[in-house]
Amino acid sequence: MTGIAQTTAFSLHNIIKDYTSREGTAVRALDSVSLDAEQGRITCLVGPTGSGKSTILRIISGIEEADSGSAQISGRKPHEFIGKLGYLTQHHTLLPWMRIRDNIGLPLDIVGQNRETQGEKVARICELLGLQGTESLYPYELSGGMQQRAAIGRLLAGGAPYWLMDEPFSALDEKTRQRLQRLLLQLVRENSISALFVTHSIDEAVFLADRVVILSAGPGRVIETFDIAVSHPRDRLSNEYGRNMERIRRKIESVLSE
Ligand SMILES: Nc1ncnc2c1ncn2[C@@H]1O[C@H](COP(=O)(O)OP(=O)(O)OP(=O)(O)O)[C@@H](O)[C@H]1O
Ligand SMILES: [Mg+2]
Repeated sequence: MTGIAQTTAFSLHNIIKDYTSREGTAVRALDSVSLDAEQGRITCLVGPTGSGKSTILRIISGIEEADSGSAQISGRKPHEFIGKLGYLTQHHTLLPWMRIRDNIGLPLDIVGQNRETQGEKVARICELLGLQGTESLYPYELSGGMQQRAAIGRLLAGGAPYWLMDEPFSALDEKTRQRLQRLLLQLVRENSISALFVTHSIDEAVFLADRVVILSAGPGRVIETFDIAVSHPRDRLSNEYGRNMERIRRKIESVLSE
């Protein structure tokens, strides 16, 4: 950790969001949600199903608007960040008809980068993510872990400094999940990325995050925020990690079970 004062990457202030059910009744998804996520850090959102975690990401991305309150990225409106925001939605969105190289290179294609530069960049990303040899395959030919790495590769190719990640590792086995967690921490550090990361796993949240925001069951409200001061890289086997994390984990569990 540095001693440099932190600035805010994502902030929500008093957000209220209602949906209308098919029967026509209003369902409050978010009730006066306020939170701050710091620049260059991972902030995790944890909460039961239906607590509005995905809704928060959609509002910050500008895909959806809140009924009241304000959402900002670095103090500005979300729609000013089109192209500067990487968004990994809850159901991964590799395009099934495109080879891995074209899926990863999609953001470069969109901005019109020439094929040669694009090819070099995609090859570098594949190497970094351990995806060499998969470039000409289609997503269905890859394991779940590899598909997730390819989706992260596309975020990297986009070069966006802000990432929204909705349960990106939830369908993976524990070993793959831990490997991708370490990879994410490395990418965030090396590329000064600010990430808002949704997870159901308390263990994942305390390993990744510098701040964990806990949401109540719907309608979603922030019930507690934990700052985790354990420095990176975190070693799950170290005594320091064991001591601190057990304490924080117990606190989060007790807040969630209230
Ligand atoms: N388009 C929609 N129309 C109606 N209700 C919606 C819509 N999208 C979300 N909701 C409702 O808003 C609430 C919050 O949904 P959201 O998907 O944000 O929860 P979540 O915390 O991401 O849940 P999960 O952990 O299951 O992914 C839920 O009650 C959900 O049914
Ligand atoms: Mg969700």
